[in-house]
Amino acid sequence: MKAYEINPSAADGMLRLVNRADPEPRPGEVLVRIRAASLNYRDLLVADNAYGVSTNNLIPLSDGAGEVVALGAGVTKHRIGDRVAGAFYPDWISGPITAGNKKRGLGGTIDGVLAEYLVLGEDALIPFPEHLSFEEAATLPCAALTAWNALTEISRLRPGQTVLLQGTGGVSIFALQFAKAMGAQVFHISSSAEKLALLHEMGADHVLNYRENPDWDSQVLSLTNGRGVDVVVEVGGPGTLERSFRAVRVDGSIVTIGFVGGGAEINPRAIIGRAIRLTGISVGSADMFKDMNRAIGLHGLRPVIDEVFPFERAADAYAKLRAGRHFGKLVVAI
Ligand SMILES: NC(=O)c1ccc[n+]([C@@H]2O[C@H](COP(=O)([O-])OP(=O)(O)OC[C@H]3O[C@@H](n4cnc5c(N)ncnc54)[C@H](OP(=O)(O)O)[C@@H]3O)[C@@H](O)[C@H]2O)c1
Repeated sequence: MKAYEINPSAADGMLRLVNRADPEPRPGEVLVRIRAASLNYRDLLVADNAYGVSTNNLIPLSDGAGEVVALGAGVTKHRIGDRVAGAFYPDWISGPITAGNKKRGLGGTIDGVLAEYLVLGEDALIPFPEHLSFEEAATLPCAALTAWNALTEISRLRPGQTVLLQGTGGVSIFALQFAKAMGAQVFHISSSAEKLALLHEMGADHVLNYRENPDWDSQVLSLTNGRGVDVVVEVGGPGTLERSFRAVRVDGSIVTIGFVGGGAEINPRAIIGRAIRLTGISVGSADMFKDMNRAIGLHGLRPVIDEVFPFERAADAYAKLRAGRHFGKLVVAI
């Protein structure tokens, strides 16, 4: 099969197109012909050797969708031709996250999906809603599931509550779609007037430009009559965490997802003073993926795709992600 390998330290560029032996499913496993993959911020960390594990010669990307083309012995949950997406953590099927079930992560600690074929255990392949294309389904495993987990499992968001979202990357755009489907009021910050207009079109109730209004936390407080929002999905731009501490209500919830701005020093006084529930999360389980797909199917939600690149231009998708000009997801057709 054709596959890309990532070589962060290679002089001739980080992505190399190679031929690998076609994988074969063992008992309990399924062979999938990957039709599309999508990129996440995490894939830049992997490409930059900043993921904390050695990633040389790894097939990158966690998020892919395709069709089942062969079944290992004993497989009962899938048939040839089924349209499926892979689970980010193939061993986290149900229940809470553990050190054991998060050990293997596609495109991070094990080979990922930027290839023609992928073999996974049958429980780690999730059928996706019929109205979605392969390109759309390829955006679900990390960005969508993280947003879903943050709002439903962790924050237990209820209709009428207020949510603060940050930026227009994959996670935050899915969070906007889910929050609106759940009947919440959304405050959304972003870097440009064009992106804010698109957010508004998508249903964001209050949009704020964090470049022009660096004290967006004060504005969120005043827009909520001094109360603050119930939930923040925190992707971690420069200074965002400290501001989120001030923008959330007393006894509110901050779900800490990312560090697009490089991280923050945490002063515990703000957390204690507002009795904030601060929770770190890591994607979600296969069971959560199925719950999310039910909601996506019911509401007819469609992932927002900024651009689809052909397989041979995968490097251009990385470049666009790095530039941060995208709105939603970047996809590679395979
Ligand atoms: N914990 C988990 O399970 C998990 C899962 C997925 C992602 N993540 C993390 O979540 C973060 C977002 O991931 P992603 O894949 O959605 O990223 P992405 O698609 O690369 O989007 C990043 C976006 O962040 C926004 N941003 C940049 N600087 C900002 C700032 N100062 N304040 C507010 N927003 C800012 C930008 O949007 P604007 O131009 O609109 O501001 C940018 O497009 C990353 O740190 C990633 O590692 C964590």
